[in-house]
Amino acid sequence: MANTNLANAKTAKNDEFYTQYQDIQKEINAYLDYDPNVFRGKTVLLPCDDPEWSNFTKFFAQNFELLGLKKLISTSYAPESKKYKMPYQPTLFETSQPYFDNDKSKTHGKIFVLTDDVTGDGRINLEDLQWQYLEGDGDFRSKEIRKLRDDADIIVTNPPFSLFREFVAWLMEAEKHFIIIGNMNAAMYKEVFPLIKENKIWLGNGFQSGNAYFRIDVVRNEYADGVYDETTGLVKFRNCCWYTNIDHGRRHQPIRLMTMAENFKHSKHKEIRGRKEYEHYVNFEGIEVPYTDAIPCDYEGAMGVPISFLDKYCPDQFEILGIGLELANMDIIKKKLGKLNGGPRLYVEREGELVRLYERILIRKKQSQ
Ligand SMILES: C[S@@+](CC[C@H](N)C(=O)[O-])C[C@H]1O[C@@H](n2cnc3c(N)ncnc32)[C@H](O)[C@@H]1O
Repeated sequence: MANTNLANAKTAKNDEFYTQYQDIQKEINAYLDYDPNVFRGKTVLLPCDDPEWSNFTKFFAQNFELLGLKKLISTSYAPESKKYKMPYQPTLFETSQPYFDNDKSKTHGKIFVLTDDVTGDGRINLEDLQWQYLEGDGDFRSKEIRKLRDDADIIVTNPPFSLFREFVAWLMEAEKHFIIIGNMNAAMYKEVFPLIKENKIWLGNGFQSGNAYFRIDVVRNEYADGVYDETTGLVKFRNCCWYTNIDHGRRHQPIRLMTMAENFKHSKHKEIRGRKEYEHYVNFEGIEVPYTDAIPCDYEGAMGVPISFLDKYCPDQFEILGIGLELANMDIIKKKLGKLNGGPRLYVEREGELVRLYERILIRKKQSQ
């Protein structure tokens, strides 16, 4: 997408944006490549959805038989409960049903369920989805949706980013398998990082170079929390990723890396090429590695790497020790500076000055490597 197309970009107001079909397909294929039976006999729940608009519902309904699903459930959030109010117009799909209810349409969520060939055409697909109003507004935290969660095997969605912490806690308390979209920086949340460190959750297959493009409906909707391109009707979000606790192949592909000596000779990064050593942190025993592809494969100690490392993280290759926030020794910095500038971070010394770095993930080569 050319930058000039973004000239009319508008900054964001809400989280009503919709995942593209091909992004869902690409992500789900990664799990199927690793285990073709990963969805077989399973009940899949798609909460925080909008089944009349959602490609999640479309994808799983269209592929119901191929995936071998037992049941598909998709739920939506009531228009009047949404954080950002917008002019609401029920779809023709809804109004044409005999049980259409003008009030409930605004105040209640909806549930779509797919289990059987209702139309009798010999196939189970989108045409066989049955819907009704939920008892409540479809809030994922409600008793009603919790019950659906507890009965499901796998939960897939693009949850509201503003409630990401709560959503992850909601998944973890039920110990469910999941595949969800989030911002990569959410990995650093205190509620999320320990799960990543313990390999209880990890990044999914991912979006192309971390940029995700979501569909919005400019009729129903103002602009979402990203950069809107009028020519495509898509909103671009940087640093987007999928979070999951289902295994996939990319996670087991070690990063191809050079030795330290090779990095000094051949690194494409001018900060590394020509050096004699990596910078050492002032307030932690480890070296600063500013790029994932500059990790020296022969270094045995702790290394600090950018957050984007997680997208390449192979638990067979590296172990995660923690983040700067937890491990940086700030007494050393306070002693040197006489005061602290902000929260805990790793520091290096450059030309006699202490430099506070961006947040780093501290890793170490797996001993068996
Ligand atoms: C980022 S959108 C994603 C929609 C859809 N899953 C997709 O990707 O196509 C998040 C949706 O969650 C809904 N939502 C917001 N708060 C919610 C809540 N507490 N419970 C359930 N859904 C919620 C929003 O209204 C919005 O439709």
